[in-house]
Amino acid sequence: MGFAKTTCTLLFLWNLVLGPTIAKSAAEWRELSIYQVVTDRFATNDGSAPDCWIRSYCGGTWKGLENKLDYIQGMGFQAVWISPIIHNIEENTTWGYAYHGYWGDNPYKLNPHFGTPDDLKSLSTALHKRRMSLMVDIVINHLAANQKPDNVEYSRFPAPFNSKSSFHQPCDIDYANQSSVEDCWLTTTLPPLVDVKSEDASVVDIVKTYNVDGIRLDTARHVPKQYLAQFQDAVGVFVTGEALNESVPFVQQYQGPLDSAHNYPLWYALVDTFTGRTTFDYLAAIMKTEEAVFSDINVLTNFLDNHDQPRMASRVGDDLVRDKNAVTFLMFTSGIPVLYYGFEQRFDGSADPVNREPMWRSDYNTNATLYQYISKLHEIRDLASTTIEKSSYFSSYVKVLGTSTEYMALQRGPLVVVVSNVGVDGTNNSFNIAASDFAPGSTIIDLFSCSTVKVGKKGSFVSPPNEGEARKKEAFALKLPNKDGTDMKPLFLMEGVQHE
Ligand SMILES: *[C@@H]1O[C@H](CO)[C@@H](O)[C@H](O)[C@H]1NC(C)=O
Ligand SMILES: *[C@@H]1O[C@H](CO)[C@@H](O)[C@H](O)[C@H]1NC(C)=O
Ligand SMILES: *[C@@H]1O[C@H](CO)[C@@H](O)[C@H](O)[C@H]1NC(C)=O
Ligand SMILES: *[C@@H]1O[C@H](CO)[C@@H](O)[C@H](O)[C@H]1NC(C)=O
Ligand SMILES: *[C@@H]1O[C@H](CO)[C@@H](O)[C@H](O)[C@H]1NC(C)=O
Repeated sequence: MGFAKTTCTLLFLWNLVLGPTIAKSAAEWRELSIYQVVTDRFATNDGSAPDCWIRSYCGGTWKGLENKLDYIQGMGFQAVWISPIIHNIEENTTWGYAYHGYWGDNPYKLNPHFGTPDDLKSLSTALHKRRMSLMVDIVINHLAANQKPDNVEYSRFPAPFNSKSSFHQPCDIDYANQSSVEDCWLTTTLPPLVDVKSEDASVVDIVKTYNVDGIRLDTARHVPKQYLAQFQDAVGVFVTGEALNESVPFVQQYQGPLDSAHNYPLWYALVDTFTGRTTFDYLAAIMKTEEAVFSDINVLTNFLDNHDQPRMASRVGDDLVRDKNAVTFLMFTSGIPVLYYGFEQRFDGSADPVNREPMWRSDYNTNATLYQYISKLHEIRDLASTTIEKSSYFSSYVKVLGTSTEYMALQRGPLVVVVSNVGVDGTNNSFNIAASDFAPGSTIIDLFSCSTVKVGKKGSFVSPPNEGEARKKEAFALKLPNKDGTDMKPLFLMEGVQHE
């Protein structure tokens, strides 16, 4: 696989014709939060709500998505990641149709099920008008064919993919052998994913034509790292790669060749923690390792679930409290938060494909508890990050102030966040935080309950157990220092922050 020399030449020409893009750097992406959408499942052109087979096209389009940007921005998100846009195989396969977009067969054409080139341009423009950013999902590792590996009709692909020599030989992946992971085919059963050997300029073209601000690179661990590095250079925008693995040293290898990777090691740990299967010590240990091993954890993309993984609500059942704590952690820990569409409506599909529900089932209810809650978290994030210099908030790493079996306290900038993993049953235990940057003697305020606590020596304070059923259900608190503890209106906090 290789990014052909012609790419650089073509890139140069495009630069001459179109001028530099307004591409966003990693440092700019670090300040954003991302909402992930499967285009086919998010919204239809006319707002209708068709029934559909979960393995088929359901009717979502780029126009439909554009019409729902109020919904996404209303929750506070600043960027949207859309599923792959290129032309896919049309056939009904053993696994159904290519509604998800990961079975490309022509990188030079768009998938007509999602709209026209003008529709995609219009979505991009609409996002930029709102000062939001567009991230596009790109697959360079493979194309798809609905024929057995030995019978793939290569002539069906456009040049330079129209010959067998552009691809690796079919073989099954041995996951213990990285060369095999990179060269063998992701699937050899129908429809096989035909492993591409050489790249072309189609992605650079996409970035320029549709004014793409960032790329989510699918199956990055299946692409040799030197080609990832060439890809990153050629596209010239922020790239976050998918390297699905629980190991920190394994995923770390992808930051460098690419700007960023999905934070899979953190994901494994946070799922276990917030579902109550392990303690906060375990999560804290992973956070510490990541801080030491990655060159910059603040540009990694963090998530609770996605189109490949069971939704959080499928793991925690009826327990909204666990969802709230998990999403609070997501929004305030180091790294870029990515929320998978439907989390805010408590969609509870487990494994693929049932975790790709049509969004219209929710009626886009902006009154949903988690919708409102996430919007509030964005307000607090905004408050915390503008109280001090914004870039210093987003370049600082979150500090773990302490853990217990039931709680974790984090400090980022002027904000202390206490999350718990006890769920809806609550706890009667308080949590002693031994030290923080809060001034001894000051009063701090819980941004959710508006209750206050006094800060002791070294910034120590006690996070109380929540009293009463209603508050017990929200066994976490966000705390900001307050100037004199008298005025508890959140607005006051902006000028009342004492940071040392
Ligand atoms: C597609 O194929 C699946 C199984 O191979 C079959 O169950 C389904 O009915 C087919 N759908 C259509 C619309 O042809
Ligand atoms: C690893 O995979 C590569 C590519 O398939 C293969 O050529 C090589 O023999 C494998 N190495 C081992 C030790 O199995
Ligand atoms: C992570 O990578 C290691 C080493 O390559 C491999 O043994 C393991 O199976 C991988 N884990 C997953 C979930 O793929
Ligand atoms: C949301 O709640 C408000 C106030 O309770 C109500 O007026 C509005 O109709 C609700 N909207 C929806 C979509 O349920
Ligand atoms: C908290 O204390 C109350 C009153 O003693 C008790 O009823 C409740 O079960 C306790 N809750 C937990 C989670 O221990």
